[in-house]
Amino acid sequence: MADKQAKLEIGGKAHEFPVLQGSCGPDVVDIRKLYGTTGAFTYDPGFTSTASCESALTFIDGEEGVLLHRGYPIGQLAEHSSFMEVSYLLLNGELPSKSELDTFENTITRHTMLHEQLMTFYRGFRRDAHPMAIMCGVVGALSAFYHDSTDISDPVQRRIASHRLIAKMPTIAAMAYKYSVGQPFLYPDNSLSYTGNFLKMTFGVPAEEYEVIPAVEKAMDRIFILHADHEQNASTSTVRLAGSSGANPFACIAAGIACLWGPAHGGANEAALNMLQEIGTPDRIPHYIERAKDKNDPFRLMGFGHRVYKNYDPRATVMQKTVREVFDALKVTDPVFETALRLEELALSDDYFAEKKLFPNVDFYSGIILSAIGFPTTMFTALFALARTVGWVAQWNEMISDPGQKIGRPRQLYTGPTQRDYVPVEKR
Ligand code: ACO
Repeated sequence: MADKQAKLEIGGKAHEFPVLQGSCGPDVVDIRKLYGTTGAFTYDPGFTSTASCESALTFIDGEEGVLLHRGYPIGQLAEHSSFMEVSYLLLNGELPSKSELDTFENTITRHTMLHEQLMTFYRGFRRDAHPMAIMCGVVGALSAFYHDSTDISDPVQRRIASHRLIAKMPTIAAMAYKYSVGQPFLYPDNSLSYTGNFLKMTFGVPAEEYEVIPAVEKAMDRIFILHADHEQNASTSTVRLAGSSGANPFACIAAGIACLWGPAHGGANEAALNMLQEIGTPDRIPHYIERAKDKNDPFRLMGFGHRVYKNYDPRATVMQKTVREVFDALKVTDPVFETALRLEELALSDDYFAEKKLFPNVDFYSGIILSAIGFPTTMFTALFALARTVGWVAQWNEMISDPGQKIGRPRQLYTGPTQRDYVPVEKR
């Protein structure tokens, strides 16, 4: 029995519903029995006030700009941890001991290769295919190659599928890049770290030794940490919804990738850099700010605003710092960074953005770093998908492990025609 009750009056009749409390965050009115007791549905398109599930993975306080994975602040994880350690944390609930981490890294490393037949799959795509189109196709196709890990009722198979997905994503993404530039695919090098191996598969060529630059490896690993999970965002909810029907994990992650591609979600990193390049020089910023404020103009400041954060996205803070580190390590600069800093400054001092609580999000600075490292803009969202895969599989596992799990099946407010009789075509 919940301590608090919520009262709802419909047509003069009062109904009570339990109010549930999580370990952090707002209380939740449990309306699971609403339809059964009142015959009414709730209406919340966009899920602005709806908790779609119970989860112990990630917590966000959007008002305060807080992001915790299993209780640990993202700033601390980005500073002190590694992507492999954060992956273990998300999947298992606790930070690993040294030997647990070694075993986990070893397991992931042992799954980095792709079935050889999948290489030919790539050749079916046009060379100018967007890497996200390739990712959707190839990840979905994994279910045709790894039948031995698609029985979702078996926890061991679920774990193997999760490890396979985390391990193979860098290979799949690197190959999508290689295919687009017409270079040969590189096999994984298991002597390197997860991130070092990804950089080598992307930027190395068989004819030459590839040396991983430690500062770039660190920055890339940090970018992966910053994207690892973000509670019930659109792509994660897509993965959960797809998985709720019992679909296999490879198909579910392919669905998540498709959702992530959209410019309002993961596609914003690509759009943000394109926007900054279009703005070009700081003197042109006021014009774009005016456009973003104009309701008759569809233009929005990409990399700005967030459904949950009504404060600075804590991931953007780390990103901004990482831009400087990468520039120092590579001894480069990019005028786009100056434009971004000035745009942030001007937007944050503008009443429109202040009133609507629009701040830079994770995507605002990430493209500048990725571009400095050498990735084309089309790869940005593919990198996001690579890193988010661990969050997706952790959330999917959490859902499937719940004995009370049900298929996700929202209802609707129907506004179409009421029942009417069919009219033969000659009488219409
Ligand atoms: N530029 C200008 N105005 C904006 C922006 C923006 N980037 N974002 C929101 N607004 C305005 C809206 O026009 C709206 O104004 P109104 O109340 O006068 O109609 C108000 O702020 C609220 O915006 P909504 O779109 O209703 O907020 P929602 O929570 O649905 O959308 C979203 C959040 C999609 C992220 C939005 O802020 C946006 O489009 N941002 C740009 C794209 C982006 O950066 N996406 C990345 C998100 S982070 C991620 O997925 C990793």
